[in-house]
Amino acid sequence: MTQETTESLTVRDNRTGQEYDVPITDGTIKAADIGQIKAADDAPGLAVYDPGFVNTASCRSAVTFIDGDKGILEYRGYPIEQLAEKSNFLEVAYLLVHGTLPSKDAYDSWVHEITYHTFVHENVKEFMQGFRYDAHPMGMLMASVGALSTFYPDARNIGDADNRHMQIVRMIAKMPTLGAWSFRHAQGKPFIYPDNELSYTANFLSMLFKMSEQKFDADERLVKALDVLFILHADHEQNCSTNAVRSVGSSQVDPYSAVAAGVAALYGPLHGGANEAVLRMLKRIGSKENIPDFIKGVKDGNERLMGFGHRVYKNFDPRATIIKKACDDVFEVTGVNPLLEIAKELEKIALEDEYFIKRKLYPNVDFYSGLIYEAFQFPPEMFTVLFAIGRTPGWLAQWLELVQDKEQKIARPKQIYTGDRTLDFTPANERWA
Ligand code: CMC
Repeated sequence: MTQETTESLTVRDNRTGQEYDVPITDGTIKAADIGQIKAADDAPGLAVYDPGFVNTASCRSAVTFIDGDKGILEYRGYPIEQLAEKSNFLEVAYLLVHGTLPSKDAYDSWVHEITYHTFVHENVKEFMQGFRYDAHPMGMLMASVGALSTFYPDARNIGDADNRHMQIVRMIAKMPTLGAWSFRHAQGKPFIYPDNELSYTANFLSMLFKMSEQKFDADERLVKALDVLFILHADHEQNCSTNAVRSVGSSQVDPYSAVAAGVAALYGPLHGGANEAVLRMLKRIGSKENIPDFIKGVKDGNERLMGFGHRVYKNFDPRATIIKKACDDVFEVTGVNPLLEIAKELEKIALEDEYFIKRKLYPNVDFYSGLIYEAFQFPPEMFTVLFAIGRTPGWLAQWLELVQDKEQKIARPKQIYTGDRTLDFTPANERWA
């Protein structure tokens, strides 16, 4: 196992007294190298136990960089702050998927392609209308993204670059249509077809809120704010849903099925549902006077301050800073959400409190996003759907990277078996006699 390398780790196996030099590359050691360490020639190799992949790199990736201690988030090397301020969601989607910023021609043709693939087959509409009246929009989105794989069976040809491009365009284009229709279904309102004269985000708002007017004319400030929210959610390296897309995609299934797995993972409250929990928390606190009591409850360990803390960001979440600014822009149009005052005061008190300072707990992306979504009059069940629309280019960029990565294999973790062994089976008629 020893090889020429500038950095290595020397491991002594105290079971055998044997020493191993394990090469270090990019700050990691290879699990396969650890697997060479054995208590005896015929014994299984040493493995690593890491539930939740807390300290395991599952891939090499050039899509998103995060430095949690410094509060840095970059897509393809570009800081999130600059992208949120100066770019737009479709340009960011191009950047994530292609790896570089588009030329004028490439951008125009990308926007044209996405705009003209927003329509879905009429059978998809009927399929979505078949859901129960109170179906959760995220369940509808997950199922309809999966269903798209049956409309585009050619998507299975994942080895062909043009084919992959086609499916990526289709999925980014159709996600707002499916998301908006999931929302309209719950309200018993007719589905609104895409309007190809509108921008990506303005068209989404039209499909959500248009009634009898000829054309839905959303306030530009709202369009911009939602576009920024999509940018902020567009990728976040190997999070739970991206890992789901990669894991399912590693079986070489079509990208619709892989992304449906990502939507499923995002559906869970520990991933996509925190902003809804923030809103519930703020409503429960009710007024600024109740904040000290609430904080005491958190410090006593009775509950968590939702929207605070992050597995990766231990200084500040750069997305939270940008969202706070977007809040002001949205409330300028919609009027201030009274919960904002409570949120700001809560943040101020928590940031000065020793408990939160010591544990490096800061507002995360979800602390303010729920307030914005509520100002748009989205019901809480829609929050995760918005997240999914924003995250789609990230999932696809990561899927594209996966299918082109020669080092990747089908995902198949090890286990530590804890059950019984070699029991004798007695047939049911004898056991029950
Ligand atoms: N309120 C109160 N205490 C907290 C909180 C919180 N929100 N978050 C962490 N702590 C405490 C925790 O009790 C522990 O204290 P002690 O050391 O005394 O036991 C310490 O801080 C470390 O917490 P942890 O649970 O080990 O940290 P983690 O990295 O496993 O958890 C987290 C990260 C995001 C799950 C957690 O901070 C949390 O539950 N936050 C609230 C939920 C939330 O806002 N989630 C959205 C995350 S951002 C969305 C995304 O990027 O996908």
